[in-house]
Amino acid sequence: MADIIGRCYGETEPHKVAFISKKTPAVNEYVYLEYNGRTVMGIIDTLLRGSFTLSDDLLDEDAIGKIVDIEGMSDQYIRGEVTILGDINTLEIPRTPAPIGTPIIRATIDQLDQLFHNNEGIKIGTVLSQPEVDVKLDVNKMVSRHLGILAMTGAGKSNATSVIIDELLLLGGTILVFDMHSEYGKTKFNNGSKKSIDAKINPRYLNIHEYKRLARIPDSATNQERYLREAYDYAKKLDKNGKCSSFIDSMIFYANSKANEFGEEGNKNKSHEDAARQVEFKLDDMKRIYHSILDKTDVDDIVNILEVGKVNIISLSSLDEIATDIIVNHVLSEILRRRKNARTTGEEPTLDFPIFNIIEEAHILASQRRDTRSKKTISRIAREGRKFGVGLCLVSQSPKSLDSESLSQLNNLIILRLVEPSDQAHVQKSSESLSEDLLKKLPSLNVGEAVVLGQMTKVPTLVKIDEFKGTTIGNDLDILDIWRTAKREKEERNKQNMTEIDELF
Ligand SMILES: Nc1ncnc2c1ncn2[C@@H]1O[C@H](COP(=O)(O)OP(=O)(O)O)[C@@H](O)[C@H]1O
Ligand SMILES: [Mg+2]
Repeated sequence: MADIIGRCYGETEPHKVAFISKKTPAVNEYVYLEYNGRTVMGIIDTLLRGSFTLSDDLLDEDAIGKIVDIEGMSDQYIRGEVTILGDINTLEIPRTPAPIGTPIIRATIDQLDQLFHNNEGIKIGTVLSQPEVDVKLDVNKMVSRHLGILAMTGAGKSNATSVIIDELLLLGGTILVFDMHSEYGKTKFNNGSKKSIDAKINPRYLNIHEYKRLARIPDSATNQERYLREAYDYAKKLDKNGKCSSFIDSMIFYANSKANEFGEEGNKNKSHEDAARQVEFKLDDMKRIYHSILDKTDVDDIVNILEVGKVNIISLSSLDEIATDIIVNHVLSEILRRRKNARTTGEEPTLDFPIFNIIEEAHILASQRRDTRSKKTISRIAREGRKFGVGLCLVSQSPKSLDSESLSQLNNLIILRLVEPSDQAHVQKSSESLSEDLLKKLPSLNVGEAVVLGQMTKVPTLVKIDEFKGTTIGNDLDILDIWRTAKREKEERNKQNMTEIDELF
């Protein structure tokens, strides 16, 4: 039997109705209304409780107590608002408002399954107000139309990301994680295997722009750039002829020889000698600073070793921002180039499978205020990736610092607890589907609760994200436990020392 929880009253609108109830419905509960031959779904947005007999200007606590004792709860009513989600089949918002008096009925499990249960999809959690209903997301839409996972620290972004990775692995998905804090490297996923990739670049695969940035040669230093280019061409040529054992050393050798040559000519070419010498020193510094990513000449390009059907993880925690930027940009632009080749001309090199790229701390590389090399590439993938099966997932705890151009291309969002108004405003500006009603819910979400919206779901949904079942990651440290263990170990060591001393005497 229909579980009627109230009736429309006052002035209704096509997308919003007010209702009065004698029962106690809950905010975020799903309901339906039947009118004009349609079943129209809605969600309870706000609730107020009032009393028929107690007026607002009754300010005497004792009097209120006495009246409530006599009248009991029967005197009270609930007044609420329902946001209309649309026709259950077509999800269209009706053109006419609901007639006054239309019953507001609690949604059935079948109806909710129809709304949130995409059979092809991945399960990320359950409907917040109805834990018995699973929420499944459309994978094609999620990967091709990109995803943003946004929330303040500790709200559950890494957990949500891990749940999504594990579910995608179950379907044979290929994922690449740029692991800024080496969290995912330590995670064990249940549904598939992991491939850890060293953040190393073979120096011969870097282009001249990457060298310019790594060696910190400013745009204004034209002579330095000239000798860097010459050194690069020299090393490339040697390499091509198989005569280059170290690409960077060859560049340094060239710059050094050039500087010596100018030096022998005396003062007339002093500025050129200085420029070539600067290039030599800067390349030498670069070699030392980025030793950890550039030390190998025999490593394959990262994109060559990506494995299909696995979660590929590049650990970036030990790198500074410039090195991280170079690696992320290098890998992402190569992925896009190879997917384009695969989808269009077939020209080598190709990448033969679609890939979902997850970038944690996305606001650092795709920053609203600063330009990085990877920002341009990320924004390009956000615009063009769909056509070539290159998906993007940007994870950030500082959405307001996230490049608005990329943000606006994320057609799907999972927003967990987000309190700061400037963060909310920035997201809303870039995402037309984040309504005022949804925005209002963000500060009151608990850990693991999220607003999920975009093309990957039929209607915006409030979700309790599943707790990740693999080995947990990104957990807050149990500091107390670490201190206790350290204290106990120290005491045991002291005791043992004392025994050894006693035995000596
Ligand atoms: N959906 C969830 N269910 C249960 N616990 C969760 C959920 N999401 C997060 N947590 C817990 O909250 C803590 C912080 O989550 P985490 O994903 O690391 O947050 P963030 O990445 O946003 O900083 C972790 O200890 C995690 O286990
Ligand atoms: Mg995290």
